[in-house]
Amino acid sequence: MNANTLPGQPHIAYQANTLCMESVKLADVAAQFGTPVFAYSKAAMLSALAAYQRGFAGRQVQICYAMKANSNLAVLQVFANAGCGFDIVSGGELARVLAAGGTPEKIIFSGVGKTRAEMKQALELGIGCFNVESEAELEVLNDVAMSLGKKAPVSLRVNPNVDPKTHPYISTGLKGNKFGVAHENAVQTYLRAAALPGLAVVGIDCHIGSQITEATPYLDAMDRILDLVADIETAGVPIHHIDFGGGLGIDYNGDTPPAADTLWQQLLAKLDARGYGHRQLMIEPGRSLVGNAGVCLTDVLFMKPGEQKNFCIIDAAMNDLPRPAMYQAFHQIVPVSPRAGASTLLDVVGPVCESGDWIGRDRQLNVQAGDTLAVLSAGAYCMSMSSNYNTRGRAAEVLIDGQQVHLIRNRETAHDTFQGEHLVT
Ligand code: LLP
Repeated sequence: MNANTLPGQPHIAYQANTLCMESVKLADVAAQFGTPVFAYSKAAMLSALAAYQRGFAGRQVQICYAMKANSNLAVLQVFANAGCGFDIVSGGELARVLAAGGTPEKIIFSGVGKTRAEMKQALELGIGCFNVESEAELEVLNDVAMSLGKKAPVSLRVNPNVDPKTHPYISTGLKGNKFGVAHENAVQTYLRAAALPGLAVVGIDCHIGSQITEATPYLDAMDRILDLVADIETAGVPIHHIDFGGGLGIDYNGDTPPAADTLWQQLLAKLDARGYGHRQLMIEPGRSLVGNAGVCLTDVLFMKPGEQKNFCIIDAAMNDLPRPAMYQAFHQIVPVSPRAGASTLLDVVGPVCESGDWIGRDRQLNVQAGDTLAVLSAGAYCMSMSSNYNTRGRAAEVLIDGQQVHLIRNRETAHDTFQGEHLVT
């Protein structure tokens, strides 16, 4: 194989039969840092961001990276330096943004269950907006803001009741989800917000789900939200910004989501047609900025042929890559240095003591113990959802920039995993 790119992965390619990310051989990364290790391409992140920026050229748009997708400080630094704000969902994420050099005014705080302590922390720092998800939260936020002598900037997350046609666990904009304020109660909730002295209504937001691969749910949600903006403003509450959330999917296995610029050209055409083209816009993309920028490198520990199934046991597991176990998600798995010869049908599984600990099922691979595999599309919701289950230290992470490899997170030691625990004396 020669300079063969892989579908959906423009920044990794086989060169002279060895898998490279940008100009770096991934076999060298595995040898230098050990496995499992996550490697992220800076160029891939910036080119994913550039697709949005192209789509928004000439508009007033704040892109707030949904950092839950990948919250490594160096990843946040890449986006902060590129002018992004951040969509956060906890005080912990807020602390990370600050540690990475992000600006508080460009932070929006989402999530159905913010604590008083988190509200206070965010108010004291002067974040850009609280995306509020219930009437009860409005009252508490008002209370906290009043006690600090501040006005909290708020947007209400409205549930547009649109089917994003994705996995039920990551669908969030339908009735029956825990998220947002019901569309039919929105005007009344806005009137309540506007009447509370500790709040300043600044916007409206929605987020209908994740790994969305079609434009239609977005177009429908936009229609529903613009209808509401009209109703809310008629009721006397001005809306300064409109935030359309995140959710754009990536190509994991031949998926064909619209490109960010194409999608936004369509959406902006609708906004213009409805007379809202001049409004301040926000979006909260996560996966589409980082998902295909990352791979997880893992070594094959053992081959275990069986009567019904052949297993390839690797040193990464569901604690490192939880998506297959949680959502039956598909990640491509490829050898870093492909072997000549026939492949076998096998299940790629981790060492964790659960049958749910599989990373890929029924894959055709030609591998032997000691080989290194790359699990693709591992830049989003892998490391950020990893755990220490089975007292497995979390993997190391590196950022690749051209020919350079930067270690951006140390591999956790066993001691790291129990350092906050105490024996009873
Ligand atoms: N905004 C809000 C309010 C969100 O809840 C999310 C994701 C995003 C933005 C970013 O969505 P994205 O652009 O990444 O689709 N762990 C799941 C995905 C959970 C998504 C949660 N919310 C997975 O691995 O597929």
